[in-house]
Amino acid sequence: MAGKPAETIPRPSPGHDALGYDLAELRRREFPWTSETVYLNNASVGPLPERTRAVLDAFNHRRAAPFQLPDRDLMITMAESRRLAAQLIGAEPEEIALTINTGFGLSLAARALPLKPGEIVLASDKEFPANVYPWMLLKDSGVTLELARTTAEGWPDEEHLLERLRDPRVRVLAVSLVQFSNGYTIDLARLSAATRATGTFLVVDAIQGIGQIPVDVRATPLDILACGAQKWLLSPWGSGFMYVRRELIRELRPTMTGWMAYEGTDDFSRLTQYNDSLRGDARRFEMITLPYQDFAGMNASLGLLLSLGIPQIQRHVTSLHQPVLAWASRSGARVVSPRGERGSGIMCVAPANVGEAFRALKAARIICSLREGAIRLSPHAYNSQTDMERVVEVLESL
Ligand SMILES: Cc1ncc(COP(=O)(O)O)c(C=O)c1O
Repeated sequence: MAGKPAETIPRPSPGHDALGYDLAELRRREFPWTSETVYLNNASVGPLPERTRAVLDAFNHRRAAPFQLPDRDLMITMAESRRLAAQLIGAEPEEIALTINTGFGLSLAARALPLKPGEIVLASDKEFPANVYPWMLLKDSGVTLELARTTAEGWPDEEHLLERLRDPRVRVLAVSLVQFSNGYTIDLARLSAATRATGTFLVVDAIQGIGQIPVDVRATPLDILACGAQKWLLSPWGSGFMYVRRELIRELRPTMTGWMAYEGTDDFSRLTQYNDSLRGDARRFEMITLPYQDFAGMNASLGLLLSLGIPQIQRHVTSLHQPVLAWASRSGARVVSPRGERGSGIMCVAPANVGEAFRALKAARIICSLREGAIRLSPHAYNSQTDMERVVEVLESL
């Protein structure tokens, strides 16, 4: 089901490039349209590499005549998805449940964590709504969502969040790994240590970070992480995963359940021999049937990203910001995103004429987003310095 092994992207010849992979070859093989279009919108939707498209096509070809797709192949695909997702974040496959989006994992966290009336969930007031509404819904159960003010720059105020952890009513800290509107990367090590010390649950919406920021849940423990794969993981809509810390899995009961969440349900010959033992691993949270074709595609994309290397991708996207940052300092345009350790691949700039600048970029076939009054540029592994220089050319021409 994994299909033919995908070709690896060759390493550059020594001294050719510090990047660690051959960028021109990556663009040509996997993203051929990059010769015509500058796509800097990975924070909205990541493109599908050619190898992923080929896997989807082949899968759907077999799906048209489903007898070509035995159950065994579907199960192998899912097992591979859990393995690759686990590898990305330093987890074990048993700690991964496959999900259709980020919101599923966050909703599950909100409903399954043992929260009592009077307790508080703490988040920042500029979080993406996927990490707000599931918590807000807990109002019916007497649990309050406290939205902490962000700093003057609009970034999560980590000092304040840490301060609030001292309040014993604060039972959950829910944060995005990377903020969608300014690219701020949370200091996960710091929040992890602080929440371990106070016994507060740390829940992370990781969709804007995984694929461009290395994460290791062994080194920086957290409780639940939810991640759709449609952005930085370059995967089909409908694919994603959640991680649940091993020791927590058996303590949490899913509030909605799928028919394969129970022990013994892999054996389709005795499905009506019901039993009430939930699986001991994170599959107890999966809501089968899932979109198998999308997970087959996700496997191809994760394989590609892992072969390029997440630290290499992180270095590359950070270096891509340089031409735009240099232009911003020449022109006096405001840079909304942090730089250095708290930065990420998302770079937001707010020139005085932001609307006009956005329209000019669009007219020049440079795809990016306008978010919270700033132009959001989100380059990925396959973007080039030339892509970024084209952005500068357009901005300079205004
Ligand atoms: C921080 C963040 N969380 C979640 C999402 C999306 O959530 P879902 O995968 O549930 O559609 C987005 C963007 O669409 C986002 O930027």
